[in-house]
Amino acid sequence: MELSAIGVIGAGQMGNGIAHVFALAGYDVLVNDIQQAALDKAVAQISGNLDRQVSKERISAEEKAAAMGRIKTTLHLPDLGQTDLVIEAATERESVKSAIFEDLVPHLKPETILTSNTSSISITRLASRTDRPEKFMGFHFMNPVPVMQLVELIRGIATDDETYQTCLKVVENLGKTAASSEDFPGFIVNRILMPMINEAVYTLYEGVGGVASIDSAMKLGTNHPMGPLELADFIGLDTCLAIMNVLHDGLADTKYRPCPLLTKYVEAGWLGRKSKRGFYDYR
Ligand code: CAA
Repeated sequence: MELSAIGVIGAGQMGNGIAHVFALAGYDVLVNDIQQAALDKAVAQISGNLDRQVSKERISAEEKAAAMGRIKTTLHLPDLGQTDLVIEAATERESVKSAIFEDLVPHLKPETILTSNTSSISITRLASRTDRPEKFMGFHFMNPVPVMQLVELIRGIATDDETYQTCLKVVENLGKTAASSEDFPGFIVNRILMPMINEAVYTLYEGVGGVASIDSAMKLGTNHPMGPLELADFIGLDTCLAIMNVLHDGLADTKYRPCPLLTKYVEAGWLGRKSKRGFYDYR
């Protein structure tokens, strides 16, 4: 099945990155959010990130203009009904995502593929709340979306092979690489990454090393582009904690117990870069 029109739900950091890469790859993109200010901010952010690519001569000014021309926004969720593929990138709360899918489903064409950019919520459970679990998948981008090469494709228990193959082709069209994962808590990336970040927080909590030592040990000692605490601030400490809770609850193993220090930071509202304070101070 050839797809041309893409719906993106949620104009936050992930949603605007997803709209960016689809528009640059030649797809028509309709971005939905509940706030006009969020849509305006997303369009400005996409324009700024495309400018960055123009200035590095990764793309031409004409390619930027064409990509911007392919992006439209709407506050009205049913407008996404005529798109061929929907990627939901709303708040990482199951009740929010399920309510969006329930509202959207009556307006969809029968052949539209529904996907979620969730980083850890069960695809099978989200799919069960729709009329098309066989046409439902996890389509998980990494942050920052325009830069990171990977997309995790997660099949729910009912996802059919045609849907998977279509999404795989879309990932290739974006110039990215897919890793296919079965639907278990955290999928592949967060099953491995989050326990490492959580262990880095334990290493700090137990006084084994300070923030700078932990990050430079992992950057210089294992060639990671960012240290684990810097990366946690970049992802958002609330997101890290939410994913650890999904692993802890879903796999019922104490090795996934969130570090009390991570919980304390989140309780303090120290969420990392987005709140200007986390393991580092960005004020
Ligand atoms: N849009 C477009 N381009 C961007 C960009 C954006 N938002 N952010 C950075 N870039 C580009 C820069 O222009 C630059 O391009 P060139 O290579 O063409 O020069 C390149 O990315 C590198 O950026 P910088 O030079 O500004 O900075 P850097 O070298 O320090 O790299 C980084 C920044 C790419 C973020 C790098 O530090 C990195 O890879 N960090 C790790 C990120 C990571 O692990 N992400 C996954 C998080 S886990 C996740 O997302 C899943 C989840 O569910 C939680």
